[in-house]
Amino acid sequence: MSSVPVISVVGSLNVDHTFRVSRFPEPGETLAALGAEMSFGGKGANQAVAAARAGGKVRMIGCLGNDERGREYRARLEAEEIENSGVLTIETSTGAAFITVDRKGENTIVVDPGANHALTPKMLEDSASRIEESAVTLLQLECPPAVVAAAAVLTRAAGRKVVLNPSPWQPEAMAGDIPVDVLIVNEREAEFLPGGPEGFCSRMGCEAVIVTRGASPTRIVSRGGSSEVAPPKVSPVDTVGAGDTFAGVFALAYARGTGLRDAVRMANAAAALATLKRGAQEAIPRGREIEAILSREG
Ligand code: RIB
Repeated sequence: MSSVPVISVVGSLNVDHTFRVSRFPEPGETLAALGAEMSFGGKGANQAVAAARAGGKVRMIGCLGNDERGREYRARLEAEEIENSGVLTIETSTGAAFITVDRKGENTIVVDPGANHALTPKMLEDSASRIEESAVTLLQLECPPAVVAAAAVLTRAAGRKVVLNPSPWQPEAMAGDIPVDVLIVNEREAEFLPGGPEGFCSRMGCEAVIVTRGASPTRIVSRGGSSEVAPPKVSPVDTVGAGDTFAGVFALAYARGTGLRDAVRMANAAAALATLKRGAQEAIPRGREIEAILSREG
């Protein structure tokens, strides 16, 4: 394996329509936005960009629509040096997300999956060699759960590692036994895990379950016990994509063979930086920025 680890990301690509609001609207209310932007997003692609900017060699597998947005998105992947021959163009529209961000930087997201839901386990078979040759496959739940499960099985069969960030949470998908080496959940998702992180870890034979908790210390639950790693203190302006940044940077560090605590330290730093700018991919830091904040924190 090369010294630059190869990561396959099987996941979603969306165009994000973000509306800045003074507060979230009530049901039935119409609210004027303070501003609006359009940008590239999707949990899968955000994680791919995070791993690539931090220094990984990334292969993206997913679906774009046969539309202007899809063509623009492919050019974007090229610009990020993300290998995208596993991203298929489908006769439908590119996925879209409708996001509101309030003054505290909190958000709500509604997704129209579009082409993301056209990805099938059969299509994945054509990308089998990409997955088999990668150190880590990074997965989320914005694509059909059957595809996520198939990608995990393929990865394990090749003796490679699976990192799953089960977001957005889908109880049915998590009821199935998707093979996982490291599961990354937020606090709310952790509450849904049967038996909690400890129960999931031992039932699934995971190496670790990592629980991100915003500004509070990230929990690492592994077979050897549990520990916490505090993130750097920042004043967030927009948390969209921060969880994706964590997952992408963690997967890269894990693929490099970095220990769990140091991998979480790096991912915490990257996620904190990602909250300092507006937008999902616009805010994702590069490797040198992550190193700079880590050396400042000591
Ligand atoms: O996690 C943030 C992402 O969720 C956004 O980029 C949006 O596309 C949705 O997938």
